[in-house]
Amino acid sequence: MPPRVINIVVAAGSGSRFGSELPKQFCELGGRSVLDHALERLENALPGSVTVVVLSPQFMDRAAGRMAVAGGASRWESVRNAIEATAGIDADVITVHDGARPLPSAGMIMRVVEACRGHHGAIPVVEVTDSLRNVDGTPVDRAAFRAVQTPQAFRADMLRRAYTLPCRPEFTDDASVMTAAGFSDIAMVDGDPMNIKITRPADIAVAEVYLTHGARR
Ligand code: C5P
Repeated sequence: MPPRVINIVVAAGSGSRFGSELPKQFCELGGRSVLDHALERLENALPGSVTVVVLSPQFMDRAAGRMAVAGGASRWESVRNAIEATAGIDADVITVHDGARPLPSAGMIMRVVEACRGHHGAIPVVEVTDSLRNVDGTPVDRAAFRAVQTPQAFRADMLRRAYTLPCRPEFTDDASVMTAAGFSDIAMVDGDPMNIKITRPADIAVAEVYLTHGARR
């Protein structure tokens, strides 16, 4: 039996680093919005899953017929709102994905969901290519670190419990919320350097290249 999956796609950010009127998740990429790419890829990789889109009140129509939930002041609050709104939906696994990441591969989406069978959750990670230093100036070994992407997937009951804890500043993703709640068996699976989060305007041009490149792979 395939797991029953809820996808929470967070797209309620204002994108202050992006510097345009229209938040980055609604910008056009190859004829569709960044958010639409993300939603279609999740739904195609996980047939039968239920997708919830978290949006700012003025963009609620961007859910395009899917369940829309109003976001909060932080990413954590936006995810929490979606978890509360979906409390009545039976699920084995909840995935959480940034609406600003348009290019998750089907393989990666299936890998994180599949890994939830043997773990509390799973996250896609990539090697760090820049050198790293602590803020005090000490060099650190980059081989000891991984950069964490989305979609992340978790056992639904555990993620729901983890999101009853109060927010902390270090909660930049959902795996950190799970770990703080004691659900620390989080598998790390292969992410993809092309699964970028649109952050600055030039990232759209990079994503256009990856979109074309990915179609040829
Ligand atoms: O700001 P950042 O790029 O880290 O945001 C990651 C994702 O979280 C984005 O898709 C953004 O739209 C979403 N977000 C949200 N609600 C917020 C802040 C961010 O849904 N209050």
